[in-house]
Amino acid sequence: MELRLVFLLSLLLFSIATVRSADVDESDALIRQVVSDDDDLLLNADHHFAAFLSRFGKSYAAPEEHAYRLSVFKANLRRARRHQRLDPSAVHGVTQFSDLTEEEFERSYLGLRPVTLPADAHKAPILPTNDLPTDFDWRDHGAVTPVKNQGSCGSCWSFSAAAALEGANYLSTGKLVSLSEQQLVDCDHECDSSDPGSCDSGCNGGLMTSAFEYTLKAGGLEREEDYPYTGTDRGTCKFDKSKIVASVANFSVVSIDEDQISANLVKYGPLAVGINAAYMQTYIGGVSCPYICSKRLDHGVLLVGYGASGYAPIRFKEKPFWIIKNSWGEHWGENGYYKICKGRNVCGVDSMVSAVAAVGSSSQ
Ligand SMILES: *[C@@H]1O[C@H](CO)[C@@H](O)[C@H](O)[C@H]1NC(C)=O
Repeated sequence: MELRLVFLLSLLLFSIATVRSADVDESDALIRQVVSDDDDLLLNADHHFAAFLSRFGKSYAAPEEHAYRLSVFKANLRRARRHQRLDPSAVHGVTQFSDLTEEEFERSYLGLRPVTLPADAHKAPILPTNDLPTDFDWRDHGAVTPVKNQGSCGSCWSFSAAAALEGANYLSTGKLVSLSEQQLVDCDHECDSSDPGSCDSGCNGGLMTSAFEYTLKAGGLEREEDYPYTGTDRGTCKFDKSKIVASVANFSVVSIDEDQISANLVKYGPLAVGINAAYMQTYIGGVSCPYICSKRLDHGVLLVGYGASGYAPIRFKEKPFWIIKNSWGEHWGENGYYKICKGRNVCGVDSMVSAVAAVGSSSQ
């Protein structure tokens, strides 16, 4: 009885995957070449690998390394194809991360540490939601700096936190100033009061709310140019209090309710959010809306807006989505951005959202 249920369920999932993957064939030829056809994939993996190396300017010194990376690349082609079937409204394929194993990717390009919240993180008050715009994007209102690149360092948390404060600072002062992630990487060793073993630790991970807590205590963040990003955490803290350009007034944790998230976004500016980044390793574009995605949060990003109906291949219903600024450079995703569907806490995107308010220019 139970077995039959499992069988029927897998049959159902399988047919969804097969039917949906047919739509992929209608999309971009370059991507189709990469992820749709099994034989092409296996027969031409070497060719795809060569194209990947030249596109991203990569090479490996030792022939053994080259061979190993080719094998990882092949596994990632299969993974991209799997993602395409599970996430048909997005496009998956070869990215700058296609020669990395999942473990390497997680270690070097994510960096959200396991979550408990610091003492000063208040719960955000419930806001009215009846007058929310149907589409909203802080990029249209000048509150978002250009996409940055964390490089091979698990410092996503510092980019998410600094970007949220950039937006809040813009709202309170009218000036958009790019802020220093390196200050957070070098100087913020804030720990959870409830879990002192877990502290912000540079390229080894951290938490946005802890970064707000640090920034509140330290007095603020310096400008990006004054404390530039190095992508390593081997340096000592060079924070100079006299160079502070943005300060935290307060911050809060937003409830998991999507209307509340939207209301806080519109009111306080871009929000720091945690997400599971599994599908982001192979993401090329579109609205990501996987049938199955872990809610284990491992990446910190910035929520900048939302839309009512996103691009989706023909025969898909248009999907409402969140617009997310990532920190992997402008050549990843849609010019550095990710779209993920709203509606059911996909990949945990609704479960760790924080808002920050900056000290206004007049009171400084
Ligand atoms: C900051 O504090 C005010 C007053 O307590 C509160 O209404 C507001 O929600 C807080 N803002 C944030 C972003 O936490």
